[in-house]
Amino acid sequence: MTPPAFPTTTYLSAPDLVQLVRRLGFSACLAGIAERIEQDFLRWHEFDKSPRLACHSAEGVIELMPIADAQRFAFKVVNGHPGNTRLGLPTVMAFGVLADMDTGAPRLLSELTITTALRTAAMSALAAQHLARRNSRHMALIGNGAQSEFQALAFRDRVGIRTLSLFDTDPAASAKLAANLHGQGLQVRICSSTAEAVQGADIVTTLTADKTRATIITPDMVQPGMHFNAVGGDCPGKTELHPGVLQAAQVFVEFEPQTRVEGDIQQLPADFAVTEFWRVLAGVAPGRRSAQQVTVFDSVGFALEDFSALSWLADKAAELGIGQVLDLIAQAPDPKNLFGLLQPPRLAVVAGARAAASSAEFPAAARRQKA
Ligand SMILES: NC(=O)c1ccc[n+]([C@@H]2O[C@H](COP(=O)([O-])OP(=O)(O)OC[C@H]3O[C@@H](n4cnc5c(N)ncnc54)[C@H](O)[C@@H]3O)[C@@H](O)[C@H]2O)c1
Repeated sequence: MTPPAFPTTTYLSAPDLVQLVRRLGFSACLAGIAERIEQDFLRWHEFDKSPRLACHSAEGVIELMPIADAQRFAFKVVNGHPGNTRLGLPTVMAFGVLADMDTGAPRLLSELTITTALRTAAMSALAAQHLARRNSRHMALIGNGAQSEFQALAFRDRVGIRTLSLFDTDPAASAKLAANLHGQGLQVRICSSTAEAVQGADIVTTLTADKTRATIITPDMVQPGMHFNAVGGDCPGKTELHPGVLQAAQVFVEFEPQTRVEGDIQQLPADFAVTEFWRVLAGVAPGRRSAQQVTVFDSVGFALEDFSALSWLADKAAELGIGQVLDLIAQAPDPKNLFGLLQPPRLAVVAGARAAASSAEFPAAARRQKA
């Protein structure tokens, strides 16, 4: 009997991801990932979930985010280092893997830095579609760094935002965001404080990065009916909302055991009532109850969003033929003879025989050479 073909691993580099987004279009990618996240959140009970594992240092955090359903396992490795931009590095960098549950074989190894910005914006907009007032048109965007264009365009596409008020402690970041949004159908104004930016906003998105217990939004800034999309408070000791803002609102979270430790609600007692967002999607818990209610999406980023993004990426990369086959796993002709791969080929004196031996042991490399 012929053994089944060895499962291949596709590698999607950052340039591959850029190519994929340019070919499909930014809005189509956001829409595809948002739809996949919604479908997966509606399958909440099919997933083996756990809070992420975090290793902290004085400068930041590195986190491992695993999750699985019956078919696929995914993990992301991501960091958060607010001081990185001073070194010319992004605050957030990530990569991840999708593997088959039935064999454990890795099928996709992908960049997830750009993808994290896409999936976070898709998740935020999905939450706001259910939690913000339906007639929301004006959003304040506090923190105008790497994630900000993604959030602005996701809220334009999926929530109907038409006006943006920007504030960042670094005026160059706001100028960069305004320039990148030029011609995107959004009216943009740069403000000189958070209080000025949130004045009159329907939705407030906080995207700041600071490794301190920051208070970006104070109770005096809150107006009836506002929705807060709090993205930057995502780690122990890293917050954005004053506890009074949370206490005056209905708070929605991704995965409660993780958000209790990492979200803005870390400032409140463990019995402070929150609603997991999947319950709103599934129709088992109400979202916004009135036009006057203040709602908060206390986002920290959950592994299921990366599972959805990786699954979507795997499908699109295959459809478009983007990515490379990667020799990630050693393939011995006899899987019980792994050591045999380390032995010099017996017919090494003949160059042709060497090539034949190599292509038997590393078929992916042979396929690439032929291409
Ligand atoms: N919840 C999630 O799923 C998720 C996903 C990705 C990133 N994040 C978090 O979102 C935040 C933003 O990420 P990024 O990649 O855009 O970071 P970034 O470093 O590129 O941008 C952060 C911006 O915040 C500004 N800032 C800092 N303190 C401020 C303050 N007090 N008021 C106004 N602006 C302030 C900085 O000047 C900077 O321009 C980070 O904290 C990151 O950890 C969360």
